[in-house]
Amino acid sequence: MIFPDPERRDRPYDLEEKSLSAPALPGAVAVALNVDRLVDMLAAEIIVHAKACVREFGDFELALSGGSTPLPLYERLMYDPDARQIPWIRTHLWQVDERAVAPDHEQSNFKVIRETIVDHSGIPDDQVHPMDALSETGHSDYEKQLREVLEWRVPGEDRLDFVLLGMGDDGHTASLFPNTDVLGETERLVARVTAPAANPPVRVTLTYPAINAARFVAIMVTGAAKAAAVRRMVAGVESVEALPISGVRPQRGQLKWFLDAAAAGVQPK
Ligand code: 6PG
Repeated sequence: MIFPDPERRDRPYDLEEKSLSAPALPGAVAVALNVDRLVDMLAAEIIVHAKACVREFGDFELALSGGSTPLPLYERLMYDPDARQIPWIRTHLWQVDERAVAPDHEQSNFKVIRETIVDHSGIPDDQVHPMDALSETGHSDYEKQLREVLEWRVPGEDRLDFVLLGMGDDGHTASLFPNTDVLGETERLVARVTAPAANPPVRVTLTYPAINAARFVAIMVTGAAKAAAVRRMVAGVESVEALPISGVRPQRGQLKWFLDAAAAGVQPK
């Protein structure tokens, strides 16, 4: 991985593939030749934000996605010596969403985060915030916890610093699935949802108000199976109900897509 240059906070790494044209998505777009190089970019981005937030606020509020896409990133964060610079001791680790399964179930998003990051990072236990999607009150407990931690921040900065999202091939993100009621949520930060098309259908998720308040939102998308959903985003004609990823629009933060060439639908020149 290329060591992020502390003098160039606007451009933390120089890994962008000049030969790849980026699709016209809202926000910034980084396209990498392959997943490995994409993971370099994302790891560097997380390091820069983590250090800057710890310097500015004393802590770093990081929310991580479930799904299989970010797995190589989570692994890289632990084994790459450069990525070990992340100040885990000052980091609060949140989840973007969780499925209604036991914490040890193979479909548990927290299980992946625990096995890849929590167990190896030295992050203090009380700064790890697993979502409980099995209990009827898990979502409201999570919202309370989130608000309690964030209220230590100065007003206006009481928000998540870095939210890593994935995207399904149907255009869902977090557990914000097409045509579900939670897409209309304007107040709550965390919600319990039932999405008949999802497996398992019952989940807890951050809502648009939580995601769109964040300082930085990264959307990581890899593989040709996601290229059609990326094209739908580029076309820009569908409603948030039909294409929930299009509802991700940070209001006072940055949005950046991280795509591999296959998801971007581009060929190296
Ligand atoms: C989840 C997710 C979800 C995920 C997409 C993509 O719990 O399912 O957080 O939003 O990011 O479904 O999943 P893959 O990365 O497995 O393709």
